[in-house]
This record gives sequence, C-alpha cells and structure tokens, in this order.
Amino acid sequence: MSEWFETLAGLHDQVWQRLGRGVADRRAPGRQPTLATVSADGWPEARTVVLRRAERPAALLEVYTDSMSDKIASLGRLPRAALHVWEPKLDFQMRLQADVTLLQGDAVANRWESVPDIARLSYGVTPPPGAPIAAALDYDKTPDQSRFCVLSLTLTHIDVVHLGDAHRRAAFRADDGWAGQWLVP
Ligand SMILES: Cc1cc2nc3c(=O)[nH]c(=O)nc-3n(C[C@H](O)[C@H](O)[C@H](O)COP(=O)(O)O)c2cc1C
Repeated sequence: MSEWFETLAGLHDQVWQRLGRGVADRRAPGRQPTLATVSADGWPEARTVVLRRAERPAALLEVYTDSMSDKIASLGRLPRAALHVWEPKLDFQMRLQADVTLLQGDAVANRWESVPDIARLSYGVTPPPGAPIAAALDYDKTPDQSRFCVLSLTLTHIDVVHLGDAHRRAAFRADDGWAGQWLVP
C-alpha cells in the first residue's frame, strides 16, 4: 500500500481533503489561505482570507469579501487569482490558480443569511477599506448586505510539493481532467 504522496491520485485527493478541512475546521491551515491577485499597475498583491466553500466536482472555492476592497478593483480588471496553503504537519504546499467570478446581491443572499451578525461587520466599513484616516480607529463598521461579495473561484491549475525523505512535485490541470503530471521539485 503506497503513501498518499507517492501517487498523483493520492496528491490530488489530499488537496481536496485539506481544502475541505479548511472550510470545516477553523484551526486547519487550509482555513486561511493567501489569496493573490494582480493590481492595475501589474504588482502582485497577497492577503490572508478565509476559505468558505470547497467543492471538488466543480473544482470550486468561495471566499467572502467587501465589494469596496482593493482586490475587487483588481479582479474587475483581471479576474484571475492564486491561492497558497502550506500544511506544516504534512510538509505539503498547495498552489492553486483560478478564474474568478464576483457574485453579489440576490445570487448570494443565502450566504449572507448564514453569516453571523458579528461577522457581518466585515462588510460595510466607512470610509472604505484602504482609505487614509487621521487616526487608527477613525472608521465605522455597519453591516451592509449590498457590500457583501462572494469570490467564486473555479480552479484551472494546481501545483503541489511534498517534502519527505524525497521531494515530490506535481501539477494538475482542469483542461486534462486533473490527470496530473510529475514535475522536478
Ligand atoms: C486571519 C485573517 C483572515 C482574513 N479573512 C479575510 C476574508 O475572508 N476576506 C477578506 O476580504 N479579507 C480578509 N482578511 C483581511 C485581508 O487580509 C485584507 O487585509 C483585506 O481584505 C484588504 O485587502 P485588499 O486591500 O487587498 O483588498 C483577513 C485577514 C486576516 C488576518
């Protein structure tokens, strides 16, 4: 019986197990991936987010954000993102690339209903995220459903690295049915 990291199928399974764990368990590394986008002037920009949904059959992930945050302007220009997760106990790095669709309003009303009151404060700060302010707490948080935005990420590419006695790296692509390809680490 082989270890999970010795086969392409085992590595691909592990990606979705870790993502699912991230949605379900707030202490799992997959809970707080780094989401990277490209700014209008071509700079990479990365930030921590919370993973809200992971659906393997559709290769779909979801992240919630404020529609007035800078990442939305970036995604409006270039609707592509990368996610990074490092699983220290598994010695396992996951890098994911995705096409991004921005969902708001009625399309995500059911998600808004499931957001606790305290967490709704994250959607609707005044002035908007990233605005300069005179003092650190010169802002107000009022929940605003019209500012609630779901980033729907359809994965196109996955790159994984496992650091064991030997190092292994593999890539998986949507356009070949996620068959997988070994790569030099
Ligand atoms: C632990 C943690 C979790 C976070 N989760 C989210 C999140 O789910 N969605 C979000 O938009 N920002 C989240 N943030 C804040 C972002 O990292 C970032 O500061 C904010 O979204 C503004 O980013 P932007 O200016 O690049 O749009 C989180 C920050 C931390 C530290």
